[in-house]
Amino acid sequence: MGLTRREQVLRALLGAAAASGLTTLILILVEATNVLLPADIKFGIVFDAGSSHTSLFVYQWPADKENDTGVVSQALACQVKGPGISSYTSDPAQAGESLKGCLEEALALIPKAQHQETPMFLGATAGMRLLSQKNSSQARDIFAAVTQFLSQSPVDFRGAELLAGQDEGALGWITINYVLGMLVQYSFSGEWIRPPEGMLVGALDMGGASTQITFVPGGPILDGNTQTTLRLYGLDHSVYTHSYLCFGRDQMLNRLLAGLVQSSPAPLVRHPCYHSGYQGTLSLASLYASPCVHTTAPLNLTRNLTVEGTGNPRACVSAIRDLFDFLSCEGRADCAFNGVYQPPVRGQFYVEASSPGQDRWLRDYCASGLYILTLLLEGYRFSEDTWPNIEFRKQAGGTDIGWTLGYMLNLTNMIPAEAPAQWRAESYSIWVAGVVFTVLTLVAILGAAAVQLFWPQD
Ligand SMILES: *[C@@H]1O[C@H](CO)[C@@H](O)[C@H](O)[C@H]1NC(C)=O
Ligand SMILES: *[C@@H]1O[C@H](CO)[C@@H](O)[C@H](O)[C@H]1NC(C)=O
Ligand SMILES: *[C@@H]1O[C@H](CO)[C@@H](O)[C@H](O)[C@H]1NC(C)=O
Repeated sequence: MGLTRREQVLRALLGAAAASGLTTLILILVEATNVLLPADIKFGIVFDAGSSHTSLFVYQWPADKENDTGVVSQALACQVKGPGISSYTSDPAQAGESLKGCLEEALALIPKAQHQETPMFLGATAGMRLLSQKNSSQARDIFAAVTQFLSQSPVDFRGAELLAGQDEGALGWITINYVLGMLVQYSFSGEWIRPPEGMLVGALDMGGASTQITFVPGGPILDGNTQTTLRLYGLDHSVYTHSYLCFGRDQMLNRLLAGLVQSSPAPLVRHPCYHSGYQGTLSLASLYASPCVHTTAPLNLTRNLTVEGTGNPRACVSAIRDLFDFLSCEGRADCAFNGVYQPPVRGQFYVEASSPGQDRWLRDYCASGLYILTLLLEGYRFSEDTWPNIEFRKQAGGTDIGWTLGYMLNLTNMIPAEAPAQWRAESYSIWVAGVVFTVLTLVAILGAAAVQLFWPQD
């Protein structure tokens, strides 16, 4: 005897419910494995060869997410012992050797099997920029020495290079906006959308020898030398950036001292930014060796001077102001100092104090603090209204702020110029299919229940 029509429909519906329920279950399992299983981790190494010291950073990210914004995190920060590589002019090989300790720490952290595929970079900033200007053959020798040393390591060393000030600023801007996840946002449907312009944050970077300001202004950028277009995830960003050489903290302190030496009767220098009671000696030769000190050197450089602190904030600020040329920008709203074009600051800013050593001497605290205040308020022209937008941070999301992460992201093409077409598509389609099959399952079950209840049995 055959099945009645009612039984046939009931069986078909229950069969459909079972099949589609099973499919839903499988989809949920697939998605769960994607989420729960640890993805392959990749690593990258960047040396930041600054003017006063070198740091090494190891970054890590899940291999399958490398094109997303904000997924790279810092796995290690190591401070190289000794001075910056630009100090090794008399023995360049030592510049390479000095990197050994931190490199070994990095290699110990990264699984051996991955050494070969781990990219490593060295970028040098204002300290080497100054040395290149002063004696380019010495700078070349140092680059050759660190390149030779790093080439011997088991990782994929991609070279040592001198960063232009503009790139340093732009890369610092990329770093902070990447870490904060500001560069791109995805909508629920898996599409990417441009984050509101005002969300992007500006970057202020205070190094030992130079300082950078980088932000997206409210209007057009009228001086092409200060404009950079960055194409990231399919979106163009027109960014203002300028690097002031010799306005980094250490060089500012040198220039400040040199100015005071010029205006004091030798052999005693009275320093208004040093606390009263401070007394020390100063070697003239080392002061005038700085390429940022332009005032004419006295004839007898072998002499030592005595420096005495007077602890006079007003005189200190006045001496610091003398390091800026404000006159050249007087009466111009779109000018910072030293005649440099700058549109009005806009949006939130992150200030990167990139030297972890900070002030090596107590005597320099006051000058450094007042200098940064003068630079921000009178130089970059932050006002009472815009001051609260400045965020003083060394880190964001566990990652040191600076140019290094942006540099690695750029050189490994981890921030694609175009938005990847497949973005999140895989995960997205699994979710859609999951929802469809869940609905199908429910419809089939409801159908079966309806048949059971409302279709009279023969
Ligand atoms: C990231 O994007 C690049 C270029 O668009 C592509 O070649 C690469 O396969 C992508 N990687 C992943 C994990 O999606
Ligand atoms: C640069 O340094 C080299 C080696 O230290 C020296 O021989 C040369 O004279 C220097 N050149 C200049 C222009 O100072
Ligand atoms: C990014 O890298 C490319 C080379 O791959 C280089 O031409 C460009 O100047 C870099 N961008 C920045 C801001 O340094």
